[in-house]
Formats: sequence, C-alpha cells, structure tokens
Amino acid sequence: MAWYSGEACGQKTVGWSSSSLQAVYQGLETAIMQVYSFLFVTSVISAASSTLITEIQGIAYQSSFAGKKVSNVTGVVTVKSTSGFYLQGNKTPDIRASNGLLVYTTSTSILGSVNIGDLVSLGGTVSEFRSLSNPDYLYQTELASPTNITVLSHNNTVAPLVIGRDRSPPTQKLNGLDIGTDGFLTVPNNQSLTSTSNRTLEPLLYGMDFWESLEGQLVTIPKPVALDFQNTYGEFWVHGDWPVTGKNGRGGLSLTFGPDGVPDGNPEAVIVGTPFDKTKNPKPAVGATLTDITGVVTYQFGFFYVIPLTAPTILSLPDPTIPPTNIISDSSDNCSLIFGDYNVENMAPTSSHIPAVASHIGNLLRIPDLMFIQEIQDNSGPTDDGTVNANITLSALINAIAKVTNITYSWASIDPVDGQDGGQPGGNIRPAFLYRKDKLTLVSGSPVGGSLDVTDVVGEGYKAGISFNPGRVDPLNPAWNSTRKPLVAHWQTSGGGDLFTINVHLSSKGGSTTTQGDARPPVNSPVEARTAQVNSVANFVQQILNKDPNANVVVAGDFNEYIQTRSVYKALTSLLTDIDEVAGIPEVERYSYVYDQNSQQLDHALVSSALKYRGAQFEHIHVNNWAPTLSARISDHDPSVGRIYLC
Ligand SMILES: *[C@@H]1O[C@H](CO)[C@@H](O)[C@H](O)[C@H]1NC(C)=O
Ligand SMILES: *[C@@H]1O[C@H](CO)[C@@H](O)[C@H](O)[C@H]1NC(C)=O
Ligand SMILES: *[C@@H]1O[C@H](CO)[C@@H](O)[C@H](O)[C@H]1NC(C)=O
Ligand SMILES: *[C@@H]1O[C@H](CO)[C@@H](O)[C@H](O)[C@H]1NC(C)=O
Ligand SMILES: *[C@@H]1O[C@H](CO)[C@@H](O)[C@H](O)[C@H]1NC(C)=O
Ligand SMILES: *[C@@H]1O[C@H](CO)[C@@H](O)[C@H](O)[C@H]1NC(C)=O
Ligand SMILES: *[C@@H]1O[C@H](CO)[C@@H](O)[C@H](O)[C@H]1NC(C)=O
Ligand SMILES: *[C@@H]1O[C@H](CO)[C@@H](O)[C@H](O)[C@H]1NC(C)=O
Ligand SMILES: *[C@@H]1O[C@H](CO)[C@@H](O)[C@H](O)[C@H]1NC(C)=O
Repeated sequence: MAWYSGEACGQKTVGWSSSSLQAVYQGLETAIMQVYSFLFVTSVISAASSTLITEIQGIAYQSSFAGKKVSNVTGVVTVKSTSGFYLQGNKTPDIRASNGLLVYTTSTSILGSVNIGDLVSLGGTVSEFRSLSNPDYLYQTELASPTNITVLSHNNTVAPLVIGRDRSPPTQKLNGLDIGTDGFLTVPNNQSLTSTSNRTLEPLLYGMDFWESLEGQLVTIPKPVALDFQNTYGEFWVHGDWPVTGKNGRGGLSLTFGPDGVPDGNPEAVIVGTPFDKTKNPKPAVGATLTDITGVVTYQFGFFYVIPLTAPTILSLPDPTIPPTNIISDSSDNCSLIFGDYNVENMAPTSSHIPAVASHIGNLLRIPDLMFIQEIQDNSGPTDDGTVNANITLSALINAIAKVTNITYSWASIDPVDGQDGGQPGGNIRPAFLYRKDKLTLVSGSPVGGSLDVTDVVGEGYKAGISFNPGRVDPLNPAWNSTRKPLVAHWQTSGGGDLFTINVHLSSKGGSTTTQGDARPPVNSPVEARTAQVNSVANFVQQILNKDPNANVVVAGDFNEYIQTRSVYKALTSLLTDIDEVAGIPEVERYSYVYDQNSQQLDHALVSSALKYRGAQFEHIHVNNWAPTLSARISDHDPSVGRIYLC
C-alpha cells in the first residue's frame, strides 16, 4: 500500500526526527495493519469508515465536508502550536487536493496528548473558518472539536514538499475569477467571490489555486530571496528557487504585464509568517538571500502564508550604495530641463528626515532644475490647529538643500482649505514645486491662485497660458473630495523654453482588499475616484493641447495607481506618454514603491507629444526601496529624475 505517493517524497527531513523516509512508509503501513487487525478481531464496527485529509480538502476552495462530522481522519503531526496542530495524511495523485490539515484546538490536554511525529487518528467537525471581523479574506479549512484521538505510532517523519523541485507556482495569474483585460486589476472589481464560486482548483494556471492546493502541507522554500522589508509583525515576502517573472535587478519582483498583455500579479511570491517556535524572523531588505525555510502553508490575514518551523537567517544583503543619477545639467545645452519627483512622506518643519531628503535631492538627484514634491505639510505639521500655510516647511527643506549644495530653490504652492485634502489629519499635505530661478521662472501676468480658484487655459498657440500661475486644477470637481488638488504652473526657462507642469497626488489605496482576498478582482479602493481624478487632469491637459498642440506638458507625481490598471489612465494616456516608455526604461525596472509581494510604480511622469518626439532621459533613484533596513528608509516612495527637451 503506497501511503505517500509521488510529490511529497523529498529527501529533506525536518528537525524533529531522525527516521528515514522509509520508516514513514513502514510506520504508516504497520499502523494500518494494526487497525485492520483490531477490526478483524473485535468486529465492533461492521463497516470500517474513515475520511481522508485529501477528501476533506477536496479540489475546490471550500470543503464539501464543511459543517460535517468526520471520523477516523489519519495523519502524522507535523507541527504544534497553542491553537492546534497540523496533520499530514496520504497524498493522492491529484495535485489539487492537499494532504495537510489544521486540527484546531486550544485544549491543553489534547495538545499534550500528541507529539510531532505521531501518527494519529481522530474525529471532528470540518469547518471553513474566517474571522468575522475580516469578511474580505478566504476561509481556512480546519478540523475543529477533535475527538477520539488515538496515537497509532511515534517518531514518523514527513518529508516536506520542496517547492521548485516537486511543484512550482504559476507566475502570472492569481485567480481564475479575475476576468478582464487588466486581469487582477480589471475594473469593475468584486464581480465574484472565491468562496462562493466553488471553482475547481487549477494550480498550474492560478497562483492562489496553487497555494490553496498545498493548504496545511509541510513545504520547503529553497534559497529564499526577500521581496520586501518586514511588516510590523516581522513577516516578509519571498520567492524561492523556482521560476519567477518580473525579476528586477535588485532581486524584487516587479508588477509588469505578462506575455499575453495581461498584468502579472506575481503569484509565485509567498509571505513568511511568525515562526512556530517563537524565534524571531530577521529583518530583510529587498534582494536579501536567506537560509531555506521549512514550514506549513496556511491562509491568514488575507494571504497564503508559509509559517516557518523556525526563523531563517540572512545569508547576504545587496550592495547598500546608491549611485547618484547620470542625468547631469549641461550648461552648454539651453534646451533641456532636468526635473525630479519625490513624495517626501508627511514632511513638517520639525521632521527629522528633512536633512536626508535634502541630501537625496542634492547628492543623488544632483539638484534638478525643477522638483515635483508631494506631501508637504503645513507649518504646524499634524497638529490640527487650523494652520494651512506651509512656508516654514518649504523653507526648512530649501535651507537644508542649500546647506548641501549652496543652491537655494524657490517654491510654488497653494494652501488647501483646512482639512479638505485628505492625508494625515491636521497635516494639510499638498503638492509643491521647488525651482531654480537661474534655470526657470513662473510666466508672469497671472496671479497666484487661491484654494478654490478654478484655473482656466487662456491664449492661443505659443501664447497659451493659464489664468492663475501657479493655480489649482479643477478644485471644485467632487472627484477631488478629500484629496490633494493638482497644482499647475506655467514656466519659462532661461533658454527660452515654455513648459506647463501639473503636480498630482491622487487618492491613496486605503480600503483596498488584499491581492489574495475573497473578492475578485480584488477591491481597488477608491478606483472610481482615481479614474475621475485622472479624467479631470486629462480634461485640463486637453484644454492646453487644444490651444497649442505643440505645448510642452509634464504631468507628474504620486498617482497611487499602477500604469497596468489601464482603465484608470485611459483618458491621460490617450494624450500623454509615460516617460519610462519614452526613455526606454526596462519594464522590470519601473518601480517606485515596494508593497507586499510587488515592486510597483505609483509615481509617474507623463509627457506631451512635443516632448515625446524630442526624446527624454529618466531614472528611478531607488534610495528608499534599496535601503539596507526598513528603519533606514527615509520615505516610502523612491524619487526619480528626468531630462526633457523644450526645443
Ligand atoms: C480507519 O481508517 C482506516 C484507513 O482508512 C480503515 O482501514 C479503518 O477501518 C478505519 N477505522 C475505523 C474504526 O473506522
Ligand atoms: C464544490 O465543488 C466540489 C468539486 O467540484 C464539490 O465536490 C462540492 O460539492 C462543491 N461544493 C459546493 C458547496 O458546491
Ligand atoms: C469516536 O469513537 C466512538 C467509538 O469508537 C464512535 O462511536 C464515534 O463515532 C467516534 N466519533 C468520532 C467523531 O470519530
Ligand atoms: C522517539 O525518538 C526519540 C529520540 O530519537 C526516542 O528517545 C524515543 O524513545 C522515541 N519514541 C518512541 C516511542 O519510539
Ligand atoms: C464584495 O461584494 C460582496 C457581494 O458580492 C460584498 O458582500 C462585499 O462586501 C464586497 N467587498 C468589498 C470589500 O466591498
Ligand atoms: C511665512 O509666512 C508668514 C505669513 O505670511 C510670514 O510672516 C513669515 O515670515 C513666513 N516665514 C517664512 C520662513 O517664510
Ligand atoms: C558652498 O560654499 C562654501 C563657501 O563658498 C564652500 O566652502 C563649499 O564648498 C560650497 N559647497 C558646495 C557643495 O558647493
Ligand atoms: C463630495 O463632498 C460633498 C460635500 O461633502 C458631497 O456632497 C459629495 O457627494 C461628495 N462627492 C463625492 C463624489 O464624493
Ligand atoms: C541657446 O543656445 C544657442 C546655441 O548655443 C544660442 O544660439 C542661443 O542664443 C541660446 N538661447 C538662449 C535664450 O540663451
């Protein structure tokens, strides 16, 4: 009788036993023979009944045994915790049905009665569990209220399934319910629920199905590479020694388009949870390599996890040096303009990160002629006292840059109405431009706009202009409720160039569901608002281009959205071109933010046709996402720098 078949028969054994794999087979067969003998001799039960773990897990997300009592479930205890233990039973050739299962109990007497390596049989009630407070997550299959626990033998070994050798995750798609041209980023979201659709698992095609097909199983992640920093619980994402796509030069996995043109959600990544033995996970950086991780696949907090038996250690960290940009100002070239973009994360006059940001702008971005800055707070920072003026905050940053470079920027910004633009309460964050007066100045003739002044496009052809300079774009449009209104400025360069710039900071993704949550496609909140905001900006750009089709226009900032969510950008990308595209940045190197499994781009610069045809240079300066530790990171976003040609 082949108890363990095929895939789970790795050579690597886990720490609690020295028995060989052969002993597993022998132990299980002996145990089964003992049970048979018992039945034969006593004839107490007329029809032998048992439920296999693979039957309980089934080939869909929800167990068809949910709510039912089962008896005589047999498996080897692979790991114990204070809230239960994991059992591993026999494997069938059907890769869709997991042979691992959580037995849920907090009873110390039950937990005390089984040991790792014990082959046990027990009864209980199959349950699909998810916390009531988190209806957006998937259910976890478990055996609750365990009864009739019989230890059949001790010291059995379960060989972990080695991911990458025995099975490998698919690399592009998360879930078969993510129907639409933008895949998991398709709008509208939440068209169906994983838990109620009862799709049959397709683990070769869909990453969530792959991990679900391993639920409760003991696995090894060989040669893990960290894909982000640890979160506040000490958890972090990895991929192991298996095929991946979207790999960037640092070692992270970038959100990209797959070969079929559908966004790639990196389902080959998995999050590493808090170790069972209470050892502490290390604090990785993106691209750190670690010792092999053996643990159990489970679902919690919105994601498929591997919970390690014990913490891995870091083997290597990537090079901590961040090279400065190669885009350097050239005094003999009076046509080009260098601009930078940086979300400086809640900067107040007292912020301790001002000198570091100043050093990034001075030493790494090398003093761009014009900076698009987001998240400048008012003079009282997060203190909610009605202050909206930010001149002290801006001066503090400008003075800090001057200390590093001897160059004193000028600034342009418009105070919001108190409490109306979202962000940290009391902070009144807003976009601002810093500019070098020796390189460019605001075109004169229009007053500075107020918070609620609607900026119009005026004039014709090369004389096109804006009615407030700087001004706010469409500030009364409800699309901008509770978020930062875009800042538009019209510039004249010392070389005679003319340029319109719009600095944006769209609504953030708060309220979204996890990429591996129940709702499919995952809820991308508030995608309707971001779409309306992009439409508002596009409408303004269209007005400029209607007056002057050859106008030089740059729209840049924190869009809080991936370019792969094409439906959001449609209105703008039909007028402007992503500068990453113009500059030919390899797709995998386009990222400004690392979150969960993905290196992703939230910060973008888009340029008008006139600029596109003259070509451009662009660089992402990964000073924050390449930080050696999370605490060394200065902002959650990376800055960028580019060169455009105005004539
Ligand atoms: C328990 O399961 C085993 C293996 O499936 C079976 O042979 C045995 O008869 C079952 N025992 C009982 C008491 O149902
Ligand atoms: C879900 O699908 C599986 C396999 O197709 C089936 O056995 C099970 O009964 C279904 N469950 C529900 C709740 O429809
Ligand atoms: C426990 O064992 C008793 C007697 O062997 C049996 O009648 C009962 O059905 C079993 N219960 C479960 C949940 O396995
Ligand atoms: C299990 O293994 C341990 C250590 O190898 C040994 O001390 C113990 O006696 C074994 N238990 C049984 C029941 O074989
Ligand atoms: C997704 O839709 C379901 C109804 O199909 C609803 O119950 C649920 O609240 C929605 N999820 C979110 C996060 O909006
Ligand atoms: C900030 O603005 C106030 C009010 O206009 C002014 O009195 C103050 O001098 C300014 N401070 C700086 C540092 O610009
Ligand atoms: C700034 O100016 C001072 C005094 O002229 C000079 O000593 C220093 O080297 C300059 N620093 C930079 C970065 O240019
Ligand atoms: C914007 O806010 C106003 C007033 O608070 C409200 O009436 C309106 O419904 C909101 N619009 C949107 C699109 O949220
Ligand atoms: C720009 O440079 C060109 C070539 O060096 C020169 O002819 C022209 O006068 C310059 N324009 C301005 C406005 O400085």
